[in-house]
Amino acid sequence: MADDSIFLGASRKPDDTYQQAESLLLKFGNRHGLVTGATGTGKTVTLQVLAEGFSKAGVPVFCADIKGDLSGIGAKGEDKDFLVKRAADVKLDPYEHSASPVIFWDIFGEQGHPIRATISEMGPLLFSRLMNLTEAQEGVLNIAFKIADEEGLLLLDMKDLQSLLVNIAERAEEISARYGNVTKPSVGAIQRSLLVLEQQGGTKFFGEPALKIADIIRTDTNGRGLVSVLAADKLMMNPRLYSTFLLWLLSELFEELPEVGDPEKPRLVFFFDEAHLLFNEAPKALLTRVEQVVRLIRSKGVGVFFISQNPLDVPETVLAQLGNRLQHALRAYTPREQNAVKTAADTFRANPAFNTFEAITNLATGEALVSTLADKGVPSMVQRTLIRPPAGRIGPLTSDERQTLINASPVAGLYDEMVDRESAYELLQKKAQKTKTEAEAAQEASADSTGGWRLPDFLGGEPKTGPRGGQVRGRQTVAEAAMKSVVRSVGGSLGRALVRGILGSLSRR
Ligand SMILES: Nc1ncnc2c1ncn2[C@@H]1O[C@H](COP(=O)(O)OP(=O)(O)OP(=O)(O)O)[C@@H](O)[C@H]1O
Ligand SMILES: [Mg+2]
Repeated sequence: MADDSIFLGASRKPDDTYQQAESLLLKFGNRHGLVTGATGTGKTVTLQVLAEGFSKAGVPVFCADIKGDLSGIGAKGEDKDFLVKRAADVKLDPYEHSASPVIFWDIFGEQGHPIRATISEMGPLLFSRLMNLTEAQEGVLNIAFKIADEEGLLLLDMKDLQSLLVNIAERAEEISARYGNVTKPSVGAIQRSLLVLEQQGGTKFFGEPALKIADIIRTDTNGRGLVSVLAADKLMMNPRLYSTFLLWLLSELFEELPEVGDPEKPRLVFFFDEAHLLFNEAPKALLTRVEQVVRLIRSKGVGVFFISQNPLDVPETVLAQLGNRLQHALRAYTPREQNAVKTAADTFRANPAFNTFEAITNLATGEALVSTLADKGVPSMVQRTLIRPPAGRIGPLTSDERQTLINASPVAGLYDEMVDRESAYELLQKKAQKTKTEAEAAQEASADSTGGWRLPDFLGGEPKTGPRGGQVRGRQTVAEAAMKSVVRSVGGSLGRALVRGILGSLSRR
């Protein structure tokens, strides 16, 4: 088998006999892709075949495991009659079973290593989307981030943002004068949304140590790409957290990775399952930016594959950029379904040997219409293709098997404990404490004062307000240092002016 491509399966002649091997060229892996089909038609197995193929070729993969059944990629497959038959049908010889190297991740830290982001890194755009804020509330959150960025207040976890919001509500008047309208009710509304998010797992997700992109771009000692599998069954109960998280990851990849042009093979392939959740009800501004990131991330060597029931789930502008397509069966009973099948059929370069529309409705399980980018990046003529059986297991791992792999993972011990270093919450608390002590001291002093005169403030040392107002010198330096260390830890620019990228995460250049 060629090593410049991934073997997908074999296409069939109109009489349903073997036609030819179908494959996906690695050099077009960064030209993105789409896997679609109704429930139970073979999408997850196809995703597994793709992920295994990339991993074997040395390309790391990130994917979400919606139902837990993708975890089987971490175990060897077994000889089962229907798989052996399928292997023979597609002339996969030898048909070998093997486990792919995996890292399990889980936002809730139960079925994998905890995966975290800091609030500063996520930025106001995605955070507003996460909390479903109104435009006015988003405006206030933008100001909050700006103040934090300016005043060197690190927003690592939920309590940092909570305490910043409390502080902003207290200073609403002064802040409104400087930045525009910030009302207590709007801050209050954000605080309430934050509480909801906390109950839905936000407390676990936001904090440190935050995910280092390098940890999902790993290869093992045999040169195979590590497959990062994100447990998403529980996460799916909060679709907004799920989609915002994946979007954040995409945005981090985009900001962090340097340009590579068109590489021999992708640097990383990112599978976005249940893709409709990303686009459902997303505001137009966000969609435009997602479209932009998908378009530009290609030259950073990242391939993005969307998985969904129907191609109509993906907006036209994004769809147009997905070069490699695998369409499993769709039903066409109702006029609406027929319309969807027609649209799906129209996205393929027709094959005179069969009618695309009819084929889509007649495909067997594990069979798909396939069109990949061929030489010069032109989509190949659509082929009716039996997908090969995967090398790993079809179906989930047992929890013991999963735990064994988690313990042996290359990131074991790196993320398991949350750390809580000094950030906005602690700084604002200290500040409040100091103000309180000073007030008490002043009160005592005036109570003590017998003759109505006061000692000059020799002992106070630090000036109460710095050049930018409201800042204490010594403390600002500490905060600044912390902020710089965050910027430095993600590489790149120094200084207090944080630059945010297309989707609002911190820019590294
Ligand atoms: N390429 C294949 N080779 C062999 N068997 C397959 C293949 N693809 C699918 N199957 C069989 O079909 C079953 C269903 O496939 P799969 O779980 O991939 O469907 P799905 O589209 O992901 O379904 P859902 O929408 O419910 O998640 C598999 O458990 C397997 O038995
Ligand atoms: Mg599935």
